[in-house]
Amino acid sequence: MTILVTGGAGYIGSHTVVQLLEADYEVIIVDDFSNSKPESLKRIKEITGKDFKFYEVNLLNEKALEEVFEENKIDAVIHFAGLKAVGESVSIPMKYYHNNITGTLILTKLMEKYDVKKMVFSSSATVYGMNNISPLTEDLPLSTTNPYGSTKLMIEQILRDIYVSDSSWSIALLRYFNPIGAHESGRIGEDPNGIPNNLMPYITQVAVGKRKELAVFGDDYDTHDGTGVRDYIHVVDLAAGHMKAVEKVMKDTGANAYNLGTGTGYSVLDVVKNFEKATNVKVPYTIADRRPGDIGACFSDATKAYNELGWKAEKNLEQMCEDAWRWQSNNPNGYENA
Ligand code: UD1
Repeated sequence: MTILVTGGAGYIGSHTVVQLLEADYEVIIVDDFSNSKPESLKRIKEITGKDFKFYEVNLLNEKALEEVFEENKIDAVIHFAGLKAVGESVSIPMKYYHNNITGTLILTKLMEKYDVKKMVFSSSATVYGMNNISPLTEDLPLSTTNPYGSTKLMIEQILRDIYVSDSSWSIALLRYFNPIGAHESGRIGEDPNGIPNNLMPYITQVAVGKRKELAVFGDDYDTHDGTGVRDYIHVVDLAAGHMKAVEKVMKDTGANAYNLGTGTGYSVLDVVKNFEKATNVKVPYTIADRRPGDIGACFSDATKAYNELGWKAEKNLEQMCEDAWRWQSNNPNGYENA
């Protein structure tokens, strides 16, 4: 069975490709390295001892993407490729809409043409917007607060409409909560460009001495310690969710959304404390203003993924912190200079 993985060199993509190869799938990666490095592909080979095909292609390049479909017999697609920085999406929305949405339209057009009607899509808990109360279930009303989130929601809608028009499609919309951690080898992990936007890479960069201190965005939320609560999930568990979703789309048709989270929320200060305990490294922090667009608490009800995919997250916050730290301390500059 051959799986095309768009964005397979990226953070979640690389961890998923490792598991696909370990499960003896044939893998074809398409990535343009806009937010990833060729080194991650070498490391995937090193970890698994297996090979895969790679095409350096941006999804907007329809001609180049069509060659991938021409040259290979593809059974299913896992579609990770997309721009994902929330703040940047507010400044340059057209780039986000064009890249994420047009890219997906080109991909699905080729999938239809080459009769590849099975897709697992990287959506996000961001589609639950600001007005729902956690734990979040898949049937809640959806809304977004920034162009990045809007692209995820619009793509979900596009994929559902494709299924309505042709019920031989099979699509899993995976709504990720907050992926953190790294492969336990410490060889692949999250390697953000520039100053990290997200909590865990910021913490690990403070811990490794690259940044002075963490700014905790608000301590006056209605949560147990006033800081924001999120559902952190180990990226290896998240990758395992993709394996189950691939099995599901191979056997059933439909277009279904699944939360991939642990179902447990931890505050920013819980994460800092767990990180310090797991690693024995201090993380200095100050309390700063709330970050615009943030909500107090966001965590999943992951029952549907358990019932319908047979998946649940296994790793706890301590393991997430240990693995994130192993990656950062072994690779202080990420894949740079590797
Ligand atoms: C963010 C995005 C979300 C996206 C997800 C995946 C926003 C508003 N949301 O989720 O759309 O799908 O990333 O990449 O950007 N925090 C600090 N200090 C920091 C960084 C974060 O206190 O330096 C806090 C935040 O206020 C929040 C928590 O840590 O309470 C997690 O933040 P983050 O890792 O950025 O994820 P989300 O905001 O949940």
